[in-house]
Amino acid sequence: MKKVKMRHSNSRFLLLALAALFFFSNPSFAQDAADSPSVEENTTPVDEAGLEGDVSAGKDLFNSLCAACHKPYKRAIGPALHGVTEKRGKEWLYSWIKNSSAMIEAGDPQAVAIYEEYNKVAMNAFPQLSNSDIDNILAYVEQPKPEPKVAVAAEGSTAAGQGGGAGVSTQVVLGILAFVLLLLLVVLFLVNKTLTRFAEANGVVIEKDEKISKPIWKAFVENQFLVIVTTVVLLLVGSYYVYGFFMQVGVDQGYAPVQPIHYSHKIHAGDNGIDCKYCHSSARVSKQSGIPSLNVCMNCHKSIAEVAPETATEEYSKEFYDGEIAKLYDAVGWDPATQSYTGEEKPVKWVRIHNLPDLAYFNHSQHVTVAGIECQKCHGPVEEMEIMRQHAPLTMGWCIECHRDTKVNMQGNEYYEKIHEELSKKYGVETLTAAQMGALECGKCHY
Ligand code: HEC
Ligand code: HEC
Ligand code: HEC
Ligand code: HEC
Ligand code: HEC
Ligand code: HEC
Repeated sequence: MKKVKMRHSNSRFLLLALAALFFFSNPSFAQDAADSPSVEENTTPVDEAGLEGDVSAGKDLFNSLCAACHKPYKRAIGPALHGVTEKRGKEWLYSWIKNSSAMIEAGDPQAVAIYEEYNKVAMNAFPQLSNSDIDNILAYVEQPKPEPKVAVAAEGSTAAGQGGGAGVSTQVVLGILAFVLLLLLVVLFLVNKTLTRFAEANGVVIEKDEKISKPIWKAFVENQFLVIVTTVVLLLVGSYYVYGFFMQVGVDQGYAPVQPIHYSHKIHAGDNGIDCKYCHSSARVSKQSGIPSLNVCMNCHKSIAEVAPETATEEYSKEFYDGEIAKLYDAVGWDPATQSYTGEEKPVKWVRIHNLPDLAYFNHSQHVTVAGIECQKCHGPVEEMEIMRQHAPLTMGWCIECHRDTKVNMQGNEYYEKIHEELSKKYGVETLTAAQMGALECGKCHY
């Protein structure tokens, strides 16, 4: 009689399938998809209007001399310059840019008309520019408007995960693979079943492995010592986690809500190095740090209507950021087209992140100004946060621990002169911690 050994065929197949899945889900595979050429390659300058001129030299000149008042494709203080060579002759442009007020005084009709249209704002004269410099600038502004990249991150919520079409295609590939594997599994199962039936019909005996007489779990249950040890270990581990879980109640460390305007501390405080106290100015002098009013934003954003292309990341596209600045304009009622306020304001409802219970008293100026503590000590690496989050647990233990550990820097700090003299005698030490100065007394933090 023939014997067929089949005991491992199923598990072997499963192993193979797993290995295949693992291989295909390997990041290096996904990488290939991400490396494939994307839609971005549309930025090579093309001299569409047939102007001779060095675009990159023109860009430098434009940025240093004209960008304060002009944008290529949008109205700013002065008109958008794209298309100006179709409207005006070369000679007119040369003499306008070199000295526009002379043309206005001379009564050139076109010059007077545009001067009137722009509320008689005078443009600077640029006698230092040669005609070829001006050609370069015009070549730069007459470049066709770069096609917007395929908008990936239209909204904050969809922005998470991989940027670009690559992320999607990887997922699709993985999905298809998983489906194919599932299909294979089903087919193999069916084949296995048919073959078994076929073998049975032919009188082939399929040998099943039954060497292990007692299953492991039975052996385990019968060994009392092992059962007791395991129970004790499980109880200990369990209570550790349960305790940890309950200690988390009311602690919102890591809380990072979606804000009405996607405001990035990384871009402002990090990349552009804006001082925290420029916006959170009351941190120095009062209990609260406060959130800046939108007027503070407009000090800069009157002239920053869009971000530089380099600011865009894989996760957040330039269109996304520009849209967020547009939300700011909408809220303060600023019309970028006319560069004026419309008077229609809508308050921005920022979601509060840090919030101590009412029973506790915390004062910023005491820590920032008196003790001279950096914001980052309590709020973490804010200048790297694209989305603001609560860094510290804000528990009582956290406050106390720092008060015990922090040696107060008293050198040249007039707040401390008297208290230092008294307390350093009392404790017989040169340096004092906040705790030694009474920062552990319940009443200091509790009303
Ligand atoms: C101080 C702000 C300011 C600066 C700097 C400036 N411009 Fe102007 N420009 C204006 C204003 C305002 C107008 C609209 C006419 C007017 O009110 O005088 C204008 C008009 C123009 C026009 C005419 C546009 C048209 O539609 O006819 C051209 C061309 C021009 N500017 C080119 C330049 C170039 C090139 C530079 C840099 C070398 C430059 N401007 C720098 C403010 C400025
Ligand atoms: C250009 C203005 C600006 C600058 C500069 C700035 N912030 Fe902010 N900050 C804001 C705005 C607007 C919010 C509210 C939106 C948010 O939470 O993201 C905020 C929120 C915060 C919050 C959370 C407030 C809450 O709701 O609990 C903290 C903490 C904070 N900033 C700390 C800092 C620190 C530290 C720095 C310096 C490294 C800094 N900020 C620089 C504007 C600014
Ligand atoms: C000191 C100048 C300054 C102030 C004040 C300022 N910004 Fe900005 N803002 C910038 C600069 C610079 C950029 C980046 C431009 C770039 O990358 O090309 C920017 C970019 C942005 C962006 C797009 C990137 C992002 O963070 O999502 C938004 C939205 C924005 N600002 C909102 C605000 C708001 C809201 C305030 C007020 C709380 C504010 N800004 C205050 C200078 C400022
Ligand atoms: C000693 C720790 C500590 C330091 C240093 C500190 N903060 Fe705070 N910050 C807190 C705590 C705690 C809260 C929550 C306060 C509350 O809920 O009453 C908070 C809240 C805030 C808020 C929310 C609004 C408010 O005023 O309650 C902002 C914004 C903020 N901090 C910014 C700053 C900035 C900017 C600096 C640096 C100039 C700074 N913080 C330094 C601990 C600190
Ligand atoms: C990064 C360290 C640090 C953290 C965190 C911190 N503190 Fe302090 N705190 C200090 C220092 C240093 C002083 C001493 C300043 C002084 O002499 O007034 C101080 C002083 C104080 C005082 C005044 C004590 C006195 O003797 O008058 C109070 C109240 C206080 N902290 C409350 C808090 C509370 C509430 C928290 C938690 C939410 C907190 N602090 C977290 C460092 C810290
Ligand atoms: C350095 C500041 C500080 C000091 C000193 C301090 N506390 Fe607290 N305490 C806090 C803060 C902050 C909280 C809120 C913690 C939280 O929300 O998780 C708190 C919370 C508590 C709570 C819990 C209240 C609740 O509803 O959960 C009790 C009880 C308490 N404190 C008692 C005391 C007693 C008693 C003392 C004196 C031995 C004391 N605290 C000293 C800062 C302090």
